[in-house]
Amino acid sequence: MAAHKVLVIHGPNLNMLGKREPEVYGTTGLNDINKDLLKLGKKLGLSVDTYQSNHEGAIVDKIQEASQKYEGLIINPAAYTHTSIAIRDALTMIKAPVIEVHLSNIYKREPFRHKSFVAEVATASMCGFGHYGYYMALEAIARMVK
Ligand code: DQA
Repeated sequence: MAAHKVLVIHGPNLNMLGKREPEVYGTTGLNDINKDLLKLGKKLGLSVDTYQSNHEGAIVDKIQEASQKYEGLIINPAAYTHTSIAIRDALTMIKAPVIEVHLSNIYKREPFRHKSFVAEVATASMCGFGHYGYYMALEAIARMVK
């Protein structure tokens, strides 16, 4: 049977993981996280694609594409979490499970990070687990699609 297809989207500045505020986001770089997601995906019977962009419209385009191609979506919209109605609206078109992930615990941080437009339309949200949050989200998707 063909592997279930899952897309992981990383938003702005997440290409700088490892170098960017390591005390908040950890020391693991995005390439390593993506490699581990692919490896874990194989174990779980999922085919994982990853995508990172610093541009809101590019993320909207990718979400629109995903609605046709993927059976699960994991998204860390980064700062757009707190500002982007366009990303929120695009996510409402996804029928597959959508899991919102944040490395940091956004509710323990500045008040402007407490509002997530994405949480309102995601199947589930998780934050504060560092990069492990992505792997936990992938395991959750594996259970949801089987
Ligand atoms: C983040 C939290 C956001 O508030 C922030 O703008 C980010 C990363 C996280 O993963 O903890 O860029 O989404």
